[in-house]
Amino acid sequence: MDGRAGFIVLFCLMGLTCAEPVKFIDCGSSSGKVAIVDINPCASQPCQLHKGQSYSVNVTFNSAVVSKTSTAMVHGIIGGVPIPFPIPIKDGCKSGIQCPIQKQQVYHYVTSLPVKTEYPAIKLVVEWELSDDDKQDLFCIKFPVQIVS
Ligand SMILES: *[C@@H]1O[C@H](CO)[C@@H](O)[C@H](O)[C@H]1NC(C)=O
Repeated sequence: MDGRAGFIVLFCLMGLTCAEPVKFIDCGSSSGKVAIVDINPCASQPCQLHKGQSYSVNVTFNSAVVSKTSTAMVHGIIGGVPIPFPIPIKDGCKSGIQCPIQKQQVYHYVTSLPVKTEYPAIKLVVEWELSDDDKQDLFCIKFPVQIVS
């Protein structure tokens, strides 16, 4: 590791925002468009999620619809099988989004992702969806993570 990489890692370990956005796949954002996905701390990709720690997730998206509600759902895809992943707050309107959601507005969905100690230490794909009043996805993103002890 050269000095610069070391500096970036140190910077990220200190809990400061890391410049590198998370590489994600759009899995069908039908009523919005995702711009940036940030997970903090995530020094290198795929993000390493340490058991017993909590991570902040910040999804910046543009809404294409008006919606009074927004509901988040998270799945961990393990061996192709989506398994529901509990998150503390499902209500997007309580996660940094000011509702009602307006058309053509940029929103930051900000929440925390606690990684429980009983989770297995594996690589998996996280699928994160935020649905509108009509159960259409304001965003649907997938990104790989690695759970480590
Ligand atoms: C979320 O990310 C956006 C875009 O990078 C940034 O402008 C915003 O301040 C972030 N919000 C929080 C609470 O970190």
